[in-house]
Amino acid sequence: MFNFFHKTTAPKPLFPYTTEVHCHLLPGIDDGAPDTEHALPLLRQVHEWGIEKVIATPHVTEATFENTPQTVGDAYERLTREPEFGEIGIQLSYSAEYRMDDNFLNLLQRNEIMPMPGNHILIENSFLQPFWNIKELIFDLQLKGYAPILAHPERYAYYSADKKIYQELHDHGCEFQVNLLSLAGYYNKSSREAAEWLVAKHLVDYLGSDMHNSNHALYLGKYLTSKDFVKHIKGIQLKNDTL
Ligand SMILES: [Fe+2]
Repeated sequence: MFNFFHKTTAPKPLFPYTTEVHCHLLPGIDDGAPDTEHALPLLRQVHEWGIEKVIATPHVTEATFENTPQTVGDAYERLTREPEFGEIGIQLSYSAEYRMDDNFLNLLQRNEIMPMPGNHILIENSFLQPFWNIKELIFDLQLKGYAPILAHPERYAYYSADKKIYQELHDHGCEFQVNLLSLAGYYNKSSREAAEWLVAKHLVDYLGSDMHNSNHALYLGKYLTSKDFVKHIKGIQLKNDTL
């Protein structure tokens, strides 16, 4: 007999964690959401996909996005005082994604860092070249009581071309945050392969969306319901929800 009432329900996208540790959803301060009208639907979307807590991480990059506790705090206020923000019911806090550059070194010296819970700091390299003295900087950060997390290590082509650096940095106590968009194949083949390699080597401490816009959301939504996603996160041990 045919069952005319049989329906196949499409799987619902669901993040593999409830705390987002890397995204650009504070309005108007970097290349992420340009205003609250763009930020709110993205927050609503990630909440529908299981995110309860968002740590916004706007860029702090010399010459491009020299954000300060003031500019970030103001953007946070603009977003959270929107009535719609309260309706979404998501917890929002902020830190930053710090490019390792002279600006960052100055901020460190002046103690003007906005750390994540547990004194974690999300740091990134330029995509063109690594910070010249990254191992020493990691050590200095740790001496100052910070716990560095390297953002999207899989996206630095100069690292993925010679992968022994990954284990070295991780052994130095630098944790890794891999982008879901890398695993999804959004950027390029080499980021995807490096991300899968890091998963296989158990070097992924955190996953993050690194979401900037609705294009990213669309791509993520498809990936989170894919077979690849199920394969990638099988058995993975994430620390997202400890923050
Ligand atoms: Fe980012």
